Amino acid sequence: QVTALIAGAVGKDGYRHYMEKELHEHPLVIGQTLQRMVDPATRKVVLPPLPCDLATIPRGVITACGSAYYAGMIGRYWLEEIARLPIDIDVASELRYRNPPLTPGSLGMLISQSGETADTLAALRALKAIGLPVLSVLNAEHSTMARESDLVLGTVAGPEISVASTKAFTAQLTVLACLTIAMGRARGTLDEAGEDELVTALLDLPGKAAEVFSHQADIRKMAGIVAEARDVLYLGRGSAYPVAMEGALKLKEISYIHAEAYAAGEMKHGPISLIDRTVPIVATIPSGPLFEKTLSNLQEAKARGGRLLAFTDEAGAERLSAIAEHTIALPEVHPFVTPVIQTIGVQILAYETALLKGTDVDQPRNLAKSVTVE
Ligand code: AGP
Repeated sequence: QVTALIAGAVGKDGYRHYMEKELHEHPLVIGQTLQRMVDPATRKVVLPPLPCDLATIPRGVITACGSAYYAGMIGRYWLEEIARLPIDIDVASELRYRNPPLTPGSLGMLISQSGETADTLAALRALKAIGLPVLSVLNAEHSTMARESDLVLGTVAGPEISVASTKAFTAQLTVLACLTIAMGRARGTLDEAGEDELVTALLDLPGKAAEVFSHQADIRKMAGIVAEARDVLYLGRGSAYPVAMEGALKLKEISYIHAEAYAAGEMKHGPISLIDRTVPIVATIPSGPLFEKTLSNLQEAKARGGRLLAFTDEAGAERLSAIAEHTIALPEVHPFVTPVIQTIGVQILAYETALLKGTDVDQPRNLAKSVTVE
């Protein structure tokens, strides 16, 4: 099937854009990546030999650019919460010049679809120069970063043609989720039952990801509001906050509408002054321990005229439909993998909005697929 993925990259297979095709490949690439990371017989995550002892590394350092950085932000929530691994994280263009006092023995973790991004490559070299082992999550396994990494964990996403990264992003999340499970096992923070629960959630993911597309028509209605806006605010909490960041980036990239994402708890510290009827608010708000807190942020925004557009799940939809103009009840999944499902929703929203704007979806203005210069 990997061959089919690569062969398929040649054409759009009847889709309007490569981005639409690649959006619909989310279930396939998540499944492909899991096949490489999880032993089907034992249902255990199996990693290749590592350049360090996962049980004893004191910290992790995560760095990347753009969407890959947001995948790293989600990985940080997972690694800290499940594997209890403290994480230092920064965009590569900052880390490469900041010379932070990193803890010796930390594991460098870099994420890149192309493996050629100049800032991420420079950050990799900077981490190696101070003696850290570096592990890279890459979609291009014959890239410069692949050659210079101590270990590559490959995302089996096949060639990604559209400048806006979609399927590579969820494949990166799949690898990071598997790394988290292996890290939790090695560090004794995840017992057998816990590991099986999370692996089961991952193995169910391709089917759940496919179900997201049954909401495409409703997301298109949501796009009708977003497409009219000059500014859009994305809000999320916890691991849904980086999903909001990804949703805002995708919208900017391909529809040229200004959008910014905030941790929902930050609203009172400034952004709430932005709110009026001209500013749609896209909320990534799955049910769970942060739901009520996020809902209260949205109620405050609504009270100031904000137009709420919510990505949630069945359990959250009832509460949200009372205050949101559009509520998308995405498939209910284990909280661990909710960010993957929510990501597909916000990426579809960006795509549907760009269709309405008539922009060049696959080759947006001013952008390149791989930023090989600073
Ligand atoms: C994502 O849609 C963008 N095209 C961009 O942010 C991209 O994620 C970033 O340039 C990093 O690219 P890489 O994954 O190839 O390193």
